[in-house]
Amino acid sequence: MGEDAAVTLEFVGPEHAAVVRDLMRAAFSEYDAVLTVPSSAMWETVEDVASHIAEGGAMLARVGTDTVGSGRYALREDHVYIGRLSVLPPYRARGIAAAMMLAMEQRALTEGRAEARISVRTMLPRNIELYERLGYIVTARYPHPRGDEVVVDLAKQLR
Ligand SMILES: CC(C)(COP(=O)(O)OP(=O)(O)OC[C@H]1O[C@@H](n2cnc3c(N)ncnc32)[C@H](O)[C@@H]1OP(=O)(O)O)[C@@H](O)C(=O)NCCC(=O)NCCS
Repeated sequence: MGEDAAVTLEFVGPEHAAVVRDLMRAAFSEYDAVLTVPSSAMWETVEDVASHIAEGGAMLARVGTDTVGSGRYALREDHVYIGRLSVLPPYRARGIAAAMMLAMEQRALTEGRAEARISVRTMLPRNIELYERLGYIVTARYPHPRGDEVVVDLAKQLR
């Protein structure tokens, strides 16, 4: 399927954990050589991913029939935590991640959550810019629990 085909988004449950994990590993593998504290994305099992999805849900993005992106969210008491946003390299920089974020935010709003949160390493400044463009504000900055890096928490009020 060509890269110009229409993008479609679908909410899925834990039974799709294997494909969500495959997309995540393919997207995060570029960080293997960059991050001094490896992302736990690289060693999550299908069971780990399924149990995370069970806390809320997951999203798949398709271009034509190809699955090119994934993300997941956990519905917590007073907010939604969105994580592991992943888009395959050939399909980046065309708004797929932004579209997945907005869809997950709207789903969380219909589930009664008025705030979305996400956490990012400061070593990945382009990601922080992406979330700030989507309306997220940095609320905290602290050392990574597993080593010599800095993490920022971002939050957005949903409406
Ligand atoms: C971050 C990611 C999901 C963005 O997906 P995307 O569909 O390209 O995002 P969008 O098209 O909606 O927005 C593009 C913006 O994403 C951000 N971005 C971060 N890393 C990027 C990358 N490697 N390539 C392109 N854009 C990237 C930039 O802010 C970019 O805007 P810019 O081109 O003006 O700098 C994707 O690059 C990815 O899967 N990266 C690896 C995994 C990851 O870091 N996930 C997020 C963890 S918090």
